[in-house]
Amino acid sequence: MTSFSHAVGIIGTGNVGVAAAYALFQRQIAGELVLLDKDPRRAEGEAMDLMHGQSLVGRVTVRAGDYADLKGCRVIVVTAGVNQKPGESRLDLLNRNAAVFREIAAQLDRHAPEAVLVIATNPVDILTRVMQRLSARPAERIIGTGTMLDTSRFRAALGDYYGVNPRSVHAYIMGEHGDSEVPIWSTAKVGGLSLYRQTVHGRPFDEGAMEALFQRVRTAAADIISRKGYTNTAIGLVIAYLVRVILEDQKSVLPVSVDPEGEYGLREVCLSIPCIIGASGMEGLVAPVISDAEHQGMVRSARILRDSLEGMVI
Ligand code: LAC
Repeated sequence: MTSFSHAVGIIGTGNVGVAAAYALFQRQIAGELVLLDKDPRRAEGEAMDLMHGQSLVGRVTVRAGDYADLKGCRVIVVTAGVNQKPGESRLDLLNRNAAVFREIAAQLDRHAPEAVLVIATNPVDILTRVMQRLSARPAERIIGTGTMLDTSRFRAALGDYYGVNPRSVHAYIMGEHGDSEVPIWSTAKVGGLSLYRQTVHGRPFDEGAMEALFQRVRTAAADIISRKGYTNTAIGLVIAYLVRVILEDQKSVLPVSVDPEGEYGLREVCLSIPCIIGASGMEGLVAPVISDAEHQGMVRSARILRDSLEGMVI
């Protein structure tokens, strides 16, 4: 059965959910998209709008529905959540999103217990862990987009610096999808060449330039939000790429938010580590050997995330 024949659900048709739906539709990754939103008419409008492009894309159907319509979906993307209110504490926001996720988890366990869940709602690492604790499905079937987008930004910036296609840059951002994310320089490569403290393609590993490059990656979301008010298109492409890897059982290695299960001495938290992704979700960890400084960065990320979880009502 090709991926084209599979149905994919998207919960939340805000900026990110619509970007994901468009990427999935335009690239014909799924045969059917089922859109849900707390405002059903918004989901209907987005489905109608996409369907008017069907003759230009191919036989992909998009419809609005409710949780019962998610039955049979192989993958369900969760982008729903509440936004921070002015003056609201991060923990208050987390608790309000945990309440939203409690309802989503109960509905998905009832109507689509076998589906792989892709969590994109921010703070994605914390909410991925919340969903793992709320849902009865195995944790391996609950994956957060994590630092896939940060890694894409990192590879694009390094590709530009070295004058190579970003697809030939093998470098990861790991840890939190957020301020404490960790650039993994020690295993970064251009093609098969380590770039760490070496000159590659005539470009030196200038510590200052590399730190500035990483800081641009780390603050990219804030830089975009200050200009357009939100980010959505690149995360939409990340979601579509991840969904395709799952639907096609590609066994690709991707940096996504999962429970490290003891890797780097970390567990009971979700943060990004390279994983083998296939039809059943997270099928294996491929945790690189990292430097002491990078390991300390991972431990710091985990501590920040675990501290947030500890204060929550799940
Ligand atoms: C960003 C959002 C998806 O990094 O957190 O653009």
